[in-house]
Amino acid sequence: MEKILVHSYKGGTGKTTVAVNIASILSLENKVLLIENDFMMPSFFDIFKCEPNAYFNDYLNGNVNFDEVIEYEVKSNLDVVFTNKRFDPNEKVMSSDQEWFLSILKQMIADLKTLEKKYNYIIFDTPPGWHLIVVNLIALSNKAVLLLRPDSYEVNGTKIMLEILYKRAKPIRSWDVYLLFNQVPDVEMKVDLDNWAGELEKDGMKYIGHISCSCNIAYEMAHKTKIFPLEHEFNQALKNALDIVLAKY
Ligand SMILES: Nc1ncnc2c1ncn2[C@@H]1O[C@H](COP(=O)(O)OP(=O)(O)OP(=O)(O)O)[C@@H](O)[C@H]1O
Ligand SMILES: [Mg+2]
Repeated sequence: MEKILVHSYKGGTGKTTVAVNIASILSLENKVLLIENDFMMPSFFDIFKCEPNAYFNDYLNGNVNFDEVIEYEVKSNLDVVFTNKRFDPNEKVMSSDQEWFLSILKQMIADLKTLEKKYNYIIFDTPPGWHLIVVNLIALSNKAVLLLRPDSYEVNGTKIMLEILYKRAKPIRSWDVYLLFNQVPDVEMKVDLDNWAGELEKDGMKYIGHISCSCNIAYEMAHKTKIFPLEHEFNQALKNALDIVLAKY
């Protein structure tokens, strides 16, 4: 079972869209569990139009077991764990210290182990930037896809985040962390992307490509669906990147 984290330094880079579509692509041939981890700004309730009986929050609060928060077959081969759209600032995940997060990490390691035979992939969507839940997920995952828009402050922020958050949470090998540019404008930016990718690769990331910024994509996401078919331009670019992530080295 592969555990893939989708994360970024800044908000709005496309993490949720990418995580959901990675899960959708992989579920064409595999059993996939997709887990939402954005407790402040959940989006899965809207994307999947689903009202689960129990939320990831309930599990973290110690009220239910992990298997009770899994919503089965939300799509064919795709099970999903949702966070609660009704934000509660008093929940443990909002206000707890490192000790609590460490206890959650141990509990999740044990619970995810029981799913080893059930799923081929677990995909984690995350909140942006620094959060103790992200530290836990880095420790739990064996691969991370870091998204960024083509801008120097996103590149430099990602560098710092890699140094402070990733390298401390877990000693990385060069193929553990993958770099994917999203929302790349439709102008010639190859030189910029290659230069930025080269800088980040020196820090141990692997560049896996880019997804263009498209008004059609934005329109479709606003009016139709956020989960695209495989032949869609967004998922064609994502599939090419994913092939590198899943390649065996
Ligand atoms: N390649 C793209 N072209 C056009 N619009 C895009 C593209 N990728 C994402 N978007 C748009 O960017 C917005 C943010 O996407 P998304 O919610 O997936 O980002 P996020 O990183 O999960 O945000 P947050 O940090 O708030 O969780 C959405 O409105 C989406 O339609
Ligand atoms: Mg998101």
